[in-house]
Amino acid sequence: MCGIFAYIGKNNAVTTVVQGLQRLEYRGYDSWGLAIPIQNSIEVYKTLDPLQTADITPIDVKGAMALGHTRWATHGAVNITNCHPHVSSSKQFSLVHNGIVENYQALKTQLVLQEVKFVSETDTEVIVRLIENELNQLQLKDEIQKESRLTPKDYQTAISQVFKKLEGRNTLVLICAELQLLIGIRNGSPLIAGIKPNNITADSYDELFLASDYYSFAQHTHTCLLVNDLQMICCEQNRVQLIDLHTNKSVEPDWQILERQELEHSREGFSHFMIKEIQQQWETIPRAAAVERQQLEAMIKAINNANNVFITGAGAAFFIGEQIAAMLREIAGIFATPIPAYESESYLASIEPNDVLIAISQSGETADTLNFIEQAKRKRALVASVVNMPGAMLSRLSDFAFLSYAGPEVCVLSTKSSTSQLTFGYLLAKTVIHQYESAKVEIEQLIHQLSHYFNDENLQIIESLAQKITGDNVYLLGNRHFIGAGKIGALNIKEASYIHAEAFPAGELKHGVIALIEKGTPVICFMDETNATYMTAIASEVKARGGMIIGISQQPNELFDYMLKLPVTDNSASLITHIIPCQLLAYYLAIQRGHNPDKPRNLAKSVTVI
Ligand code: G6P
Repeated sequence: MCGIFAYIGKNNAVTTVVQGLQRLEYRGYDSWGLAIPIQNSIEVYKTLDPLQTADITPIDVKGAMALGHTRWATHGAVNITNCHPHVSSSKQFSLVHNGIVENYQALKTQLVLQEVKFVSETDTEVIVRLIENELNQLQLKDEIQKESRLTPKDYQTAISQVFKKLEGRNTLVLICAELQLLIGIRNGSPLIAGIKPNNITADSYDELFLASDYYSFAQHTHTCLLVNDLQMICCEQNRVQLIDLHTNKSVEPDWQILERQELEHSREGFSHFMIKEIQQQWETIPRAAAVERQQLEAMIKAINNANNVFITGAGAAFFIGEQIAAMLREIAGIFATPIPAYESESYLASIEPNDVLIAISQSGETADTLNFIEQAKRKRALVASVVNMPGAMLSRLSDFAFLSYAGPEVCVLSTKSSTSQLTFGYLLAKTVIHQYESAKVEIEQLIHQLSHYFNDENLQIIESLAQKITGDNVYLLGNRHFIGAGKIGALNIKEASYIHAEAFPAGELKHGVIALIEKGTPVICFMDETNATYMTAIASEVKARGGMIIGISQQPNELFDYMLKLPVTDNSASLITHIIPCQLLAYYLAIQRGHNPDKPRNLAKSVTVI
């Protein structure tokens, strides 16, 4: 939540930062803004207009340095005053923030008692005022020592003092105009640096990027520094210094070359990223299937040694986790308990040393998931993770770190990253029973069939069904592996169309759900050859109450009012693709209702606050 992008270098800083923010827009799109040092003062530009169509011609500045932020509002309404960057009273420095200062009210009360004035409702402004206070005190000291102005060291001291007072997961980036200084500091929320190194020393640069994720600057460089929690990165005069806040001492930056993946950030002729990313899945699933057998076997060894196996994630990633748990159960006979990351407290007592906790996450920076992982590691559990974003904290904390290689997913809804995660789960389950090679063959066949699924005729069927769904409720029913597919489908429909969609195990129907069925209520029933008899009975009970039956199936059934084809069934890897028809239905429902499915209201793709 909230995206940060800063740049120093020879190119136009404003253009570079705006392009970076456009790639980070998935983190929040309530407002965005820039801070640009001009001579000895900070100039700020803020707007509520969309980033993708940003007109930057009025910002006629060709500076070498700029700081940008795209906001997902936590404290304070969506308006220009609350928009970042926030600027100091003297206009000497400006800062942006990602996270929540959990103790901001107490800090603000102290400042108000000292008659400090606030202009915004944000927790971020509290940080600005605290840093101002620290700098004022340091300036007084400097004057006594006959120093005429604040130094970079003063800024480092002030920021680290203030940062240590903040509770919660936070990342700050600050620029100082007079000193041409850029400082970033993190604890819990993401921060990654990239440089185009120059030839002088390994950590001096021609261009520097400081951002919330790697993909936002990966078209410029792959040389990255993963800033760790309680580290501060200081960039001035083409040099980078990394400071450990525990010791207040410099540490050697560990520059590394990150993955070079597909980085295309355009819709490539598609009307939305969502439909592009759905149709890319026949290309992204094979990339996820490239996971090496030895890597899986090392993890399986740990699973075999563990008393308990848990699987976690949040949002769509948790539902995928439940699906993977079902694959492990049904294919490999391994019982993995799914735990929503935000409910970890209730399970912590059950975690023992050497237990394995599998974490699923597209971003690898979800606060709830990281929080759970950190607690489990303190109990000496081993962590395995499946993450899409290279360089993420979750991978760094993992004993077994897998990447899902889906490439940048711009739409807020998880589509191609979900099937990549399921591909990992399927290969893991099959490797447990020594069927890695045959699973790879199944996945190859699956991809071949999937490549034919996105044809015009099929898309039109789904689009015209979306026009028939006019009410406010949709229910989804299935059993076994379809329970998870239903939950993910319901989430996709809710997020994209704002229709209340809810999935139930089909067995729940007679125990309460049936009371919801009225004439014309749309009910999606998942059916394949494993459950046709059972689901036919369920569908008839719904139909008898007037429900409108939408079958998601390969085979027609006389009970279906409408049918959406499952992409594949005659292949046991088809479990990976069962979620695709609902992705498409969610997309067309959004379009039908005039919503932008790439940016659903109120949501952000990466939730780095609790
Ligand atoms: C948010 C997003 C979901 C995503 C979830 C977990 O809720 O809207 O699409 O599944 O966060 O994100 P992660 O990055 O951990 O997969």
